Amino acid sequence: MKTSASILALATLAAALPSQKVNKRACDSAVKLSGTENVFKSYTLHPNSFYKAEVAAAVKNLSDQSLATAAAKVGDVGSFLWLDTIANIDKLKKELATDIPCKNVLGLVIYDLPGRDCAAKASNGELAVGEIDKYKTQYIDVIAGLLKGAPNQAFALIIEPDSLPNLVTNIDLTTCQQSKSGYEEGVAYALKTLNLPNVVMYVDAGHGGWLGWNDNLKPGAEGLAKVYKAAGSPSQVRGISTNIAGWNSFDQTPGEFSTTSDAQYNKAQNEKLYVSLFGDALATAGHPNHAIVDTGRNAVTGLREEWGHWCNVKGAGFGVRPTADTGDERTDAFVWGKPGGESDGTSDTSATRYDSFCGNNDAYKPSPEAGEWNQPYFEDLLKNAKPQF
Ligand code: GLC
Repeated sequence: MKTSASILALATLAAALPSQKVNKRACDSAVKLSGTENVFKSYTLHPNSFYKAEVAAAVKNLSDQSLATAAAKVGDVGSFLWLDTIANIDKLKKELATDIPCKNVLGLVIYDLPGRDCAAKASNGELAVGEIDKYKTQYIDVIAGLLKGAPNQAFALIIEPDSLPNLVTNIDLTTCQQSKSGYEEGVAYALKTLNLPNVVMYVDAGHGGWLGWNDNLKPGAEGLAKVYKAAGSPSQVRGISTNIAGWNSFDQTPGEFSTTSDAQYNKAQNEKLYVSLFGDALATAGHPNHAIVDTGRNAVTGLREEWGHWCNVKGAGFGVRPTADTGDERTDAFVWGKPGGESDGTSDTSATRYDSFCGNNDAYKPSPEAGEWNQPYFEDLLKNAKPQF
């Protein structure tokens, strides 16, 4: 029989143990990934609890309750968790305290460079140009610590959407000139520091309507390769992410914008072609060239007045669910990168982060600040989903 003294001793011991909950469904040994393999062939993109909760709240607020059953299913779709501020690293901590099945890979978006979103306003970040040390020590190092602390968990990372592409096509802007060295140093640091056995990384490469132009393929690929080499050619880099938060079809033929007058200058008329053409340029430049493509919101095409329109496109629908079954060797997986329902940017013209793209005719209004939930937009994505839920 236990004496009260030994019970007290046990209680003291329990209190001293880390309060972290043990993941009951975790792998029982260390995960070993590599940039030479397609992680999505053996792991399923994890439906993270943050998006699940956003969707669960949306189900309660539906304007039409007949959508409830279908809407609830959206929360079970695997998607990437955005670590878009230092404070939001907490989302990762919380996720790691849930029961993530061993066969699931947790998708994370690394997104907090100094001078973020240099060519637009909607997603300007918390770190100013020059705050590179803060990015390294308070953001990347902290995330790296958490990933190291979960060696039995597989992670797939999307590295800094839009950043290196902006340095190719928007370098005429003072803001992008100011951001340049921080982006290059920051991305290289991220690649080097997050190069862990349980991690694979995809560096963001925009989309076909961006670096897919004949004149952008080579400088784009060289821009990525320069940073990758500066990081020491890390083994866990698998390639690129494309169409993140984008609207392009994967394989519509002929492509959505193939009848415009400038179409002759861009052979990457869909994302499959982009992955192929940009991938060739990457190989030449010495950068890994497998890809993941965001299909979260690309079900409906023919909505944009111009290819470059990116903000809350009206009439969009949820696209193909995450899968490694892409029919294309170079495309590792279709993923949900942008969490559908979260806004791309505010339509409030008086807001500091108001970007005129969010006021375009083809942009949904009203829309809240980037990242905030937009309930009617979510409902439209659901109604227009292909395949339907
Ligand atoms: C935008 C926002 C960011 C958010 C992300 C995903 O880029 O700026 O805060 O996390 O979209 O919705």
